[in-house]
Amino acid sequence: MNRLLGIVLDVEYLYTCVHKEEDADTKQVYFSLFKLLRKSILQMGKPMLEAQESPPFEKPSIEQGVNNFVQYKFSHLPSKERQTIVELAKMFLNQINYWQLETPSQRRLRVPNDDLAGYKANYTRWLCYCNVPQFCDSLPRYETTQIFGRTLLRSVFTVMRKQLLEQARQEKDKLPPEKRTLILTHFPKFLSMLEEEVYSHSSPIWSQDFLAGASGGQIPIHTVISAPPVARPLYYSTSPVSVDPSTCGSVSPARKTASVLESNPVGEKRKPSEPLPHEETKRPRVVGDIPMDLINEVMATITDPAAIPETNLLSAHSARDEAARLEERRGVIEFHVIGNSLNQKPNKRILMWLVGLQNVFSHQLPRMPKEYITRLVFDPKHKTLSLIKDGRVIGGICFRMFPSQGFTEIVFCAVTSNEQVKGYGTHLMNHLKEYHIKHEILNFLTYADEYAIGYFKKQGFSKDIKVPKAKYVGYIKDYEGATLMGCELNPSIPYTEFSVIIKKQKEIIKKLIERKQTQIRKVYPGLSCFKEGVRQIPIECIPGIRETGWKPVGKGKELKDPDQLYNTLKTILQHVKSHQNAWPFMEPVKKTEAPGYYQVIRFPMDLKTMSERLKSRYYTTRKLFMADMQRIFTNCREYNPPESEYYKCANLLEKFFYTKIKEAGLIEK
Ligand code: ACO
Repeated sequence: MNRLLGIVLDVEYLYTCVHKEEDADTKQVYFSLFKLLRKSILQMGKPMLEAQESPPFEKPSIEQGVNNFVQYKFSHLPSKERQTIVELAKMFLNQINYWQLETPSQRRLRVPNDDLAGYKANYTRWLCYCNVPQFCDSLPRYETTQIFGRTLLRSVFTVMRKQLLEQARQEKDKLPPEKRTLILTHFPKFLSMLEEEVYSHSSPIWSQDFLAGASGGQIPIHTVISAPPVARPLYYSTSPVSVDPSTCGSVSPARKTASVLESNPVGEKRKPSEPLPHEETKRPRVVGDIPMDLINEVMATITDPAAIPETNLLSAHSARDEAARLEERRGVIEFHVIGNSLNQKPNKRILMWLVGLQNVFSHQLPRMPKEYITRLVFDPKHKTLSLIKDGRVIGGICFRMFPSQGFTEIVFCAVTSNEQVKGYGTHLMNHLKEYHIKHEILNFLTYADEYAIGYFKKQGFSKDIKVPKAKYVGYIKDYEGATLMGCELNPSIPYTEFSVIIKKQKEIIKKLIERKQTQIRKVYPGLSCFKEGVRQIPIECIPGIRETGWKPVGKGKELKDPDQLYNTLKTILQHVKSHQNAWPFMEPVKKTEAPGYYQVIRFPMDLKTMSERLKSRYYTTRKLFMADMQRIFTNCREYNPPESEYYKCANLLEKFFYTKIKEAGLIEK
């Protein structure tokens, strides 16, 4: 009975997985396993996977290959050092066993020329024999490293190596001292050496008779290195950990099976974090760009954790969401988009979470009637991105999507009091942004509470609404005393990783500067002119300043030829006049239309006046032209309130104008 009840739990769980899963291949496998388990309940038998072939699927296995590698490369080392290598090998095998494979469709995008059919076959086997059995105990479970061989390892190695090193770097301050050297110094080298053998066509470690042929064949190393049977992911650990039965069958598969090294946005499959190779080749090269070889070289020093200077990861300089991101990776917190449904049987856990959300919102938004919060949180048209810690809801963002109108309304957003200002609010919003990019909605609108305007501003919201009024009036709920704010999403930004990327870019630039400094190290005699009474000199007169790469800032090309200047300004003015937001500025403001305008605005300007000035050759320098144009925008913002249509037009047209003059080379890009 217990065994059958166990299968019933797994069936229920798989049922949820089938409904939640968005990837077609994965969904199909979940569904087959669901049917298989249901059948075995009906027949009161044991679930048997009716695959064409049974494991192992390739020989030698990854585990054997790695054993061979250790023996091939390190058998000459003294026993203590060899033991270190064995530790590294165990750690590596352990990571593979908890690695979350990318779905075939993700792989197709990342590596378009790969053998996709082969990958898909391995992916399906991995789901059935390794991944799903981790959370469905009634299915027999195998270790990835024991039933797969070089083919699977090749398909994950590069991404995995990169992520392992990245995580080692990020978590270096938290590593126990005895593990630091092992992980920060030896592990990167170990991975590089192994990589060569994994991708080499002639490496002997993948030969079936490696042990017989190898010189040190007598060492029974395969009994030494074997991935420990850990029941849940454990970062950089080589020792077994017991299973916590309370978590079985209660958390999402992504959470349970994801390696701690991967981020798991909104309980969905990980996106490949590596740059897509074809994107790389398509990117246009800009003259003056830093050579790719140099960038790669610098990148290598950055990925190498040993080369990173000692700084506390969670210091005052770390990004607001850094701690939350790390907690998510370690599985301390989870994000799920949930909602009530009238079509499906309510899921108890989701209902509990919805009640939890209702509670958090009611406490944090005391001016909102409780009944109103309850109605919206449980309304099937609304969804809530919920933040779960220790199985409890500690925050969330309730939203309603309006795909036809191109925006989503953020209805409630809150984090429980004792968890505020820890970065959860930021990480929640970043997840929500990624969720919407995935669903192709690129605008958020919200009525922000007076006290929350600061928070929304920090998340990229502004009072300058980009969505046309006609698109949201009548759709979005209007709240008295609150301020309408909007946020436009950029689909090319991976929001949950954004601060890490920026940090990395800063490191790259810092390294590039350091390199440049070592190349041009030259000491000039100090400036003596000041002693002689000179008070000021142009920067470019400082000896060596240009060699450092310094260029005069903000100064564009002053066109000496008056005709050339005239033609350039004429083209820019024409572009500005034909812009869709130029209509309020086409002619001088009429007194009748704007009462008191000329008392407020002392130096009026408009595009018609500018055209006349241009014709009369008034603009003898670009500065005169730019000053007039700037005047139009400043006047407008002075006279009109920020939420007015005019104000928005001025902002947009100003942006457009500056792109045009940059394109024309009149100011530096
Ligand atoms: N005013 C100004 N800045 C704020 C506020 C605020 N009320 N709350 C947070 N911030 C700042 C933080 O200081 C931090 O800034 P920093 O990165 O420069 O240090 C940044 O915003 C983000 O902080 P997080 O720690 O990521 O955010 P937190 O987890 O505290 O969540 C939230 C923010 C949701 C606003 C939380 O404070 C809260 O629940 N407040 C009470 C409920 C509320 O006011 N909700 C919004 C109502 S409007 C609506 O729901 C549509």
